[in-house]
Amino acid sequence: MVIGGGGREHTLCWALSPSATVFCAPGNPGTEEIGTNLPLDPGDHEAVISAVAEHHIDLVVIGPEAPLAQGLVDRLAASGHCAFGPTAAAARLESSKAFAKQVMVSAGVATAASETFTEPNKALDYIASHPEPLVVKASGLAAGKGAIVCRTRAEASTAAREMLGGKFGSAGELVLVEEFLEGEELSVLALTDGERAMLLPPSQDHKRIGEGDTGPNTGGMGAYAPVSIAGPDLLGRVLNDVIRPVLRNMATDGTPYRGVLYAGLMIDSDGDPRVLEFNCRFGDPEAQVVLPLLETDLTDHIWRIAADEDWKPEDLSTAQSGAAVTTVLASPGYPEAPVKGAAIGIPEELPARTLLFHAGTARDDQGVLRTAGGRVLCATGLGTSVTEALARSRELADAVQFEGKVFRRDIAWREVARAGAA
Ligand code: AMP
Ligand code: GLY
Repeated sequence: MVIGGGGREHTLCWALSPSATVFCAPGNPGTEEIGTNLPLDPGDHEAVISAVAEHHIDLVVIGPEAPLAQGLVDRLAASGHCAFGPTAAAARLESSKAFAKQVMVSAGVATAASETFTEPNKALDYIASHPEPLVVKASGLAAGKGAIVCRTRAEASTAAREMLGGKFGSAGELVLVEEFLEGEELSVLALTDGERAMLLPPSQDHKRIGEGDTGPNTGGMGAYAPVSIAGPDLLGRVLNDVIRPVLRNMATDGTPYRGVLYAGLMIDSDGDPRVLEFNCRFGDPEAQVVLPLLETDLTDHIWRIAADEDWKPEDLSTAQSGAAVTTVLASPGYPEAPVKGAAIGIPEELPARTLLFHAGTARDDQGVLRTAGGRVLCATGLGTSVTEALARSRELADAVQFEGKVFRRDIAWREVARAGAA
């Protein structure tokens, strides 16, 4: 049973379904085509436990961060059920940026210099004595909106005052002010049993709404994998200098980390990686490009990790030959005020080597598929190169119709530019 109902969860169901009977809670019209949707609230742990018992579920895979931070894995384990994902204590690597910083400092992992504050005056003093630009972050979960890159000290002071004044609720009771890092971002996901780790293909997402990475931040407008700047050397450093030290630190502290550890990295002009953040789950929309590239049985890996069975990490980060690009189709007005409810037209037959993952879609009383969220669908294209995968992703993005459809045509632009220069 996959917990969640977005594009990532549809992709997880798709990736698990060749070797498992899949349930999804609550799921979406895409997961409904693969398995059985169970209309329950993932925050209602008792409802999850009852569904697991009723449907004889062997394994629960948790998609989003909120149920992990709320201890769903702990609750399932306490009732003798098998779950893939970290405990609430281990998920603090995402749910508390202050905690993640402490772990990185104590494990010797390279990251931006930062300081944590609860009092506005102390934050303002720090900001006044540090160089611009600065990044101000709410320590708690803020649905991807809690990090503000501030060009000036004045902007940073406003951001810190607003956060400590309650703009993000309890997520902003602790605020980090950190050094701005230059470079290119990279997402590296690792499956881990708490000791050993296996890297998945490196990916890059596009958070801004507009082409050329402009405009406000979103949950993600597209992603691609693999990323050519992340060769075996860099990935080896990510494994040895980031993932493994963090896992050792977590285990030593009595909170071993199992599940997917997602390292959000900044790669500087010398090619050195530094950690921007950790997430305790698969990325969305990174999952929509990383999972289709895997030439291994994901279910077997996840099962062995969750059930604590004999597990052998493979090196999947550079094993795959192909490339994938996903283009997110969003509702008009996204991210500020998405307009929902438009009828969606999907071609009877999808273009060759494409996959369409549902995110914010719903069927109305008549069974008509309609837009029901900011991010509506993810159009994944596969190919032997990122350029080819992008062409397929765009072809599918063009073929799906709904009123006011918004999408970027420049997903993977850095990689396309590198391929053109090569
Ligand atoms: P986070 O939630 O910490 O990953 O931050 C969200 C986004 O803000 C990242 O994906 C980066 O684009 C940006 N960001 C966060 N921290 C920094 C930093 N120290 N330097 C530059 N950009 C950052
Ligand atoms: N794509 C960024 C995230 O999943 O947090």
